[in-house]
Amino acid sequence: MIIAVDGPTASGKGTIAKGLARHYQLPHLDTGLLYRAVGRQVRLNGGDPDDPLDAARACEFPDSLLAEPMLRTEAVGALASRVSVHKRVRAALLARQRAFAARPGGAVLDGRDIGTVIAPDAPVKLFVTASLEARAMRRFRESQSRGEDVTLDAIHADLVRRDARDRNRAEAPLVEAADAMVLDNSDLDAAESLAAAIALVERRRGEQA
Ligand code: DC
Repeated sequence: MIIAVDGPTASGKGTIAKGLARHYQLPHLDTGLLYRAVGRQVRLNGGDPDDPLDAARACEFPDSLLAEPMLRTEAVGALASRVSVHKRVRAALLARQRAFAARPGGAVLDGRDIGTVIAPDAPVKLFVTASLEARAMRRFRESQSRGEDVTLDAIHADLVRRDARDRNRAEAPLVEAADAMVLDNSDLDAAESLAAAIALVERRRGEQA
């Protein structure tokens, strides 16, 4: 079973995807991490994330970069959002994601375009979302727990920018797949969100049985 989990920044899709992978004993790929690695590598190369060629060159990052804790920071997330608009970057990362989705036995992938581009035939698609306020507060608490020096206002403004960039780009924009089940978890904690996600997966599996 392939489970596609898409949604905007800080919607909780990563936590839900990890929980679903654990629950169904499937491998999990956080595809945002690949774009984060490209964003980080552009900077390491001294390149410009908005330049298509610099961004494309950065797709040849070493796998060891994926384990760097700093990939999770807000700063690298913003770079990832910028490099992800380039067609060549998306093309360079496509095969790796498709191969993961094609694993025998299935997989859980989370990102922005899993249900629409990477695994359009996935039998189960979730679109996880939450209000801007709820997402900003979550991201603020996460950043604080990592000791990052950021304000709630700055995070809020960054989310608005990232939402606009991710939703309005020409290549594989963030959009609900027609057959995705929408899970709004603004008022749910992590455990409740996962329980709601499992219920939706089970409902879809029941419909398909
Ligand atoms: O999920 P995340 O915050 O780690 O993603 C960082 C950026 O990467 C996001 O703003 C857009 C880009 N991204 C993408 O374009 N497609 C994906 N499948 C995953 C992430």
